[in-house]
Amino acid sequence: MRYSHSAPSLFAGMSYLSAAVQAQTGYGAPPPAPSCKAANTTVDLGWYPPVKSDVNTLSTVINGTGVYGFVFNSSQAPLDTYNWCNMPHTNVATYPKVNDSSYKLQYVEVIHRHHKRTPYAANTFPVESYAWECSDEGLFFGGKPINPYGNKSASTYWEVYTSPSNPLVPEGFNGTCQFPQISRGGLDDSHQHGDDLKAVYGNMLGFIPEQYNPNVISYRVTNNVITSQVASMLIAGMYPSRANQDTPLLIQPDSIDSLEPAYTCSVASTLFSSYGSGSKAPAWLAHLNDSASLYATLDRISGVNPNASDWHVSFDHYFDNLSARLCHSKALPCNIANTTDCVTMAEADEVFRLGEYEYSFIYRDSNQSLPASVGSYGIWVAELAQNLRHAMGEGGSSVQNASSIRYRHNVAHDGSISRLLAILQIERMVWPGMGAEVIFELYEKAGCYFLRVLWGGQIMTSSHPALGRLDMLPVETLLAYLDGLVGVGASKVPGICQTPECAFDGEGCA
Ligand SMILES: *[C@@H]1O[C@H](CO)[C@@H](O)[C@H](O)[C@H]1NC(C)=O
Ligand SMILES: *[C@@H]1O[C@H](CO)[C@@H](O)[C@H](O)[C@H]1NC(C)=O
Ligand SMILES: *[C@@H]1O[C@H](CO)[C@@H](O)[C@H](O)[C@H]1NC(C)=O
Ligand SMILES: *[C@@H]1O[C@H](CO)[C@@H](O)[C@H](O)[C@H]1NC(C)=O
Ligand SMILES: *[C@@H]1O[C@H](CO)[C@@H](O)[C@H](O)[C@H]1NC(C)=O
Ligand SMILES: *[C@@H]1O[C@H](CO)[C@@H](O)[C@H](O)[C@H]1NC(C)=O
Ligand SMILES: *[C@@H]1O[C@H](CO)[C@@H](O)[C@H](O)[C@H]1NC(C)=O
Ligand SMILES: *[C@@H]1O[C@H](CO)[C@@H](O)[C@H](O)[C@H]1NC(C)=O
Ligand SMILES: *[C@@H]1O[C@H](CO)[C@@H](O)[C@H](O)[C@H]1NC(C)=O
Ligand SMILES: *[C@@H]1O[C@H](CO)[C@@H](O)[C@H](O)[C@H]1NC(C)=O
Ligand SMILES: *[C@@H]1O[C@H](CO)[C@@H](O)[C@H](O)[C@H]1NC(C)=O
Ligand SMILES: *[C@@H]1O[C@H](CO)[C@@H](O)[C@H](O)[C@H]1NC(C)=O
Repeated sequence: MRYSHSAPSLFAGMSYLSAAVQAQTGYGAPPPAPSCKAANTTVDLGWYPPVKSDVNTLSTVINGTGVYGFVFNSSQAPLDTYNWCNMPHTNVATYPKVNDSSYKLQYVEVIHRHHKRTPYAANTFPVESYAWECSDEGLFFGGKPINPYGNKSASTYWEVYTSPSNPLVPEGFNGTCQFPQISRGGLDDSHQHGDDLKAVYGNMLGFIPEQYNPNVISYRVTNNVITSQVASMLIAGMYPSRANQDTPLLIQPDSIDSLEPAYTCSVASTLFSSYGSGSKAPAWLAHLNDSASLYATLDRISGVNPNASDWHVSFDHYFDNLSARLCHSKALPCNIANTTDCVTMAEADEVFRLGEYEYSFIYRDSNQSLPASVGSYGIWVAELAQNLRHAMGEGGSSVQNASSIRYRHNVAHDGSISRLLAILQIERMVWPGMGAEVIFELYEKAGCYFLRVLWGGQIMTSSHPALGRLDMLPVETLLAYLDGLVGVGASKVPGICQTPECAFDGEGCA
């Protein structure tokens, strides 16, 4: 908020940006007028509880039926419905058009979870009753000289196989997949996601150019390769001319990656495990205790050892295990030794209710969710704040030599989206399913700047009274909130991450 901005620095190095693009979008609008800078904006940094609903009410989770109309068994579902396999995202049919034409779109930042995939090996049963084949897609890995180009490179891809001379049985399913990898269906969903965003921000709003322009658009992925698998399809969905073309994906070093997030914040990890998965907190143990008989059934059918703690500290593994099958039209599993002893749909639904409950608990219902998420996702939100400021003519962006980028696209994970939703204090928390999307839209009107936040393509509502319905919020309010929590440039995060646990739980430091 106290940048002594200088307009010339924004435009330095921008001469290569075509005049046509500038005229089309008006990017490079003046810095905010002094009257709306609100340099003294202060926002309460407290936690506000989410609304109470079936998702976070233990009695409906344990004794209810169904999963609130949520979809778990197909990528195709109504565009306004929670669909674990393919969450609703921004598209032409449901986009909430801004009716007041005096608001001019200036900057867009998209973040979403990767699309549907095979399960993580750790979430597969000891012995699977069927194989899973992925020979309908290639995962390309390779290297090629660039800057300057040298000899050409073959487009090489992985072909998973097992050898009769290798006596070891792989973890997970037999077959030709990696666990995890984005599935063929997930690649198709990624392509459609890109196509839909282009239809809104390109064709409909004329905000991004018709043709790919790396000076205007940039893509970022995490160190987990499945996000690159999504990006490669999504980019060709947005820009068909990129098919088979070399296209950069921004990535931070694994040890400090803020998007995944992969940086170490032991205070946040300790805090999460003090009240959530793995903890002995009574509020957490209640739902596990109440589902003891469900656990016994699942363990009997799957062959998972009832002592296997990672399967029993939360429903994460069973949730992933069952939902990945359904999203790919595979049967619910049966006992290897008794093929009529199978997981029922009602049992799967209960697992899904429990998983939704856990995400709401960890990321919203517990008042620890805010400090834990601020520590572990504070750097990404500081980068977002910097990008917003840059788009308003206040200082550089979070990426060097990227001063004219007006559309940033981040492909991330459920852990990224959940922490972001925790920081924004979303009113109704759910487990962010495949492709789950948040978009930040920065508008300028009469020299002042405003922010809209879309969740699943619709305007998000926060429980924080200063944020509320995130529809043309004066941007200074969000910036004051984020600065207060994490500091400009995430300056507070290293300190937050190093603060001994005793500073949080009130116990003395030994
Ligand atoms: C905050 O700024 C506004 C103008 O932006 C001013 O009217 C108000 O007096 C200021 N409040 C304080 C406490 O400085
Ligand atoms: C579920 O129903 C049973 C039987 O009515 C009851 O004893 C139990 O307390 C209920 N569980 C919850 C969490 O409400
Ligand atoms: C998906 O699940 C719903 C509700 O359980 C069911 O009605 C529908 O037939 C299922 N669809 C498919 C494709 O299995
Ligand atoms: C714009 O106006 C239409 C028609 O009145 C309305 O349905 C829509 O919700 C409005 N958009 C926003 C973002 O308020
Ligand atoms: C589910 O878990 C079982 C038991 O560990 C495992 O064999 C199976 O591969 C898993 N399946 C999925 C889809 O995760
Ligand atoms: C998986 O492969 C192993 C050998 O690697 C074999 O023993 C087992 O029967 C196979 N399982 C299935 C379900 O095909
Ligand atoms: C291309 O490969 C050939 C044969 O390996 C080699 O002689 C040549 O120097 C390479 N060219 C470049 C630009 O690296
Ligand atoms: C655990 O659940 C059982 C019923 O399954 C109940 O009798 C007991 O009170 C519960 N214990 C706790 C600590 O919630
Ligand atoms: C679980 O652990 C207990 C104590 O270590 C042991 O007695 C029991 O046999 C184990 N159960 C299984 C199924 O491995
Ligand atoms: C197989 O499972 C079914 C359904 O749970 C059960 O009724 C039957 O007794 C089981 N058979 C054996 C041999 O365990
Ligand atoms: C969080 O909630 C617990 C239990 O309700 C309460 O004791 C504690 O004071 C709260 N902490 C904060 C920071 O609000
Ligand atoms: C960034 O720009 C500076 C100054 O224009 C230049 O020296 C530097 O090489 C550029 N860095 C990259 C990675 O392009």
